[in-house]
Amino acid sequence: MDKLFHPSSVAVVGASRNPNKIGFSILKNIIESGYQGSLYPVNPNAEEILGIKAYPSLKNIPGDVDTAVIVVPAKYVLDVAREAGEKGVKYLVVITAGFKEVGGEGIKREKELLKIIREYNMHMVGPNCLGVIDTHTPINMTFAQRMARKGHIAFISQSGALVTAVLDWAAQAKIGFSKIVSIGNKADLTELDFIEYFTRDPETNAILLYVESIDNGVEFVERASKVTKKKPIIILKGGVTEAGAKAAVSHTGALAGRVAAYEAGFRKAGVIMASSLSELFDYAVALASQPPPRRNGIAVLSNAGGLCILTADILVKKGLSLATFGSDTIEKLKKILPPTAAIYNPVDVVGDSDAARYLNTLETLLNDESVDAVLTLLAPTALIDPLDISKGIVELKKKYPNKALLAGFVGGPSYHDAAEYLMDNRIPFYNMPARLATAVLGLVKYREYLDRPRYKHVTVEDVDKERVKQIINIVRKEGRTVLLESEAKSIAAAYGIPVPKFYLAKSPIDAISAAEYIGYPVVMKIVSPDILHKTDVGGIKAGISSSEEVEDAYEEIIMNVTKYVPRAKIYGVLVEKMADKGVETIIGVTKDLQFGHLIMFGSGGIYTELFKDVAFSLIPMAREEIQDLMGRTKIFNILRGYRGMPASDIKRLEDILLRINQLIIDFPEIVELDINPLRVYEAGRGAIALDIKMVLTKEV
Ligand code: COA
Repeated sequence: MDKLFHPSSVAVVGASRNPNKIGFSILKNIIESGYQGSLYPVNPNAEEILGIKAYPSLKNIPGDVDTAVIVVPAKYVLDVAREAGEKGVKYLVVITAGFKEVGGEGIKREKELLKIIREYNMHMVGPNCLGVIDTHTPINMTFAQRMARKGHIAFISQSGALVTAVLDWAAQAKIGFSKIVSIGNKADLTELDFIEYFTRDPETNAILLYVESIDNGVEFVERASKVTKKKPIIILKGGVTEAGAKAAVSHTGALAGRVAAYEAGFRKAGVIMASSLSELFDYAVALASQPPPRRNGIAVLSNAGGLCILTADILVKKGLSLATFGSDTIEKLKKILPPTAAIYNPVDVVGDSDAARYLNTLETLLNDESVDAVLTLLAPTALIDPLDISKGIVELKKKYPNKALLAGFVGGPSYHDAAEYLMDNRIPFYNMPARLATAVLGLVKYREYLDRPRYKHVTVEDVDKERVKQIINIVRKEGRTVLLESEAKSIAAAYGIPVPKFYLAKSPIDAISAAEYIGYPVVMKIVSPDILHKTDVGGIKAGISSSEEVEDAYEEIIMNVTKYVPRAKIYGVLVEKMADKGVETIIGVTKDLQFGHLIMFGSGGIYTELFKDVAFSLIPMAREEIQDLMGRTKIFNILRGYRGMPASDIKRLEDILLRINQLIIDFPEIVELDINPLRVYEAGRGAIALDIKMVLTKEV
């Protein structure tokens, strides 16, 4: 993409003499950005525009054209694109709207445009975009109000207008960019193409994205994973809705929504997810300039006790811990600081500190081996000049390049010059402890991702694939997608997932002999493809301990079900061994349109949806990902043995998750699965899947 970002020659097709038109702004922005290459305005009605010779069409331009920015009305775009192809143009930046985003004719037009792009071996940004900026070339091929500051953050945005807002705000916040791309409808070049190009771009240290949709989540995870090992990617996802959840029949579907799939995908790819625009940039400025510290390698320094406490509180709440200083550091601090100072982390040099005391302390902390990052918080007292502190920080950063330094100068106008000085010298500046803490957390998360060992995928071999195939064939033959509980349990058993002893009884007599064989007490449940939530229709009876009770329960269940769902097809009643009490967990699987199969683990039982204590991950999972999945839930604390309670059989739970992972890999046609509850017993005593729902995809 060098010819896009550093073109030797650029044409603006639809350049206008009218200052109110986009074609005018783009040409003006290119000129004002200081672009040094050849520039060709194209307009059939103009001799010259903004003092530059104009050409009636692309083919009249004497030299080669690397990149053509297209700003003519939609109906002319295809002709212009064809002409660009004939001319040998390499990249088109199509600003024009009126394509896929308007539907109908627009969709057709976009397809045609893409055909031309492919035919002439060109590439395209857009259509329906704001354009492209490279601050290092420099070139501004957008119609934004201003050029970006030079810096090392690359920003890719699916919303063009948002870029203009970000540019304006970033100018005030002194944030610099290497490149900015508005990808518009991303008909040809997508966020992935740019992410990969920016990985090789020496001017880019962190890659930022604002996206509303990712068309192929599986491909995104695969390609982005390779990038994040080299450069951090931070994403703000817009348009996060729960749409689609209603359609799902299982708990998992209702709890997952679309956010979970994106989050799971981004986690797998090592992408840092921001929850707001300001968070996106708080992460970015730190990740673009500072080495990532260890979770327990953080020191806090301030001239205000309150700022020390506030910052330490937020850091701890975020799961970070403060570094423990070595004895040399403590000795040194005792010498250089007054007795009123706090010398253990956080370090308070107290309000009467001057710049020398503050900076001397900072250097002492940087010298400590246990410290990877120092957060320099400042309150604007009359005794300290923020600019002096800034200069000192910049100097110390040069001396200690492997330590992270982040400034948290809390306040407002007092820091105008200091903020600019710090940001110009690549020290992240924040005006609030919370923003500073967010940034540090981003750095720590990235460090942990980089340190993460390569996951090894394990295949579970001792499974009975043939048995599962047989069951699925029967379900398909009957034209069903929802499996009966007995079928779902047989599938689980074939994959080594423990289920209670069960028998599908067709009559009360049948049920009695099943119960006698299995042993009391038993549970009895209706088996019907038309009933997913059995409790709601009186389709379950538990604690049955005699043949008389079995007979009564059988008849009552059939009566209840016939009353509530008169046309339900009844296959019989499942007689099942009643399981002992244990910790109730849930395991679920759904299939996301973009990211594929998503697995859920968390607190199970009847309060699942109330507590919402669940975590998600994408399938396939490595063992480490399963451990991480379990560890992200509150129920895991109980499983580990909470407050003197015995620890549960986590090993077996991990094994069950691994087996479900294998089942979905082998049978991706399973699109929904719910095990609730999966009862987990004390360590060594295993677990058992009490209720299982399974749904197959519609197409065979
Ligand atoms: N080759 C070269 N120049 C051409 C041309 C062609 N085939 N056809 C028209 N032009 C010239 C016109 O003469 C005009 O120049 P002039 O003002 O000097 O006469 C200029 O190109 C623009 O054409 P015009 O018909 O005036 O269109 P416009 O400026 O009103 O609108 C767009 C053009 C592309 C801006 C408009 O169609 C559009 O898509 N707007 C939305 C853009 C947008 O929002 N994008 C997404 C941002 S996030």
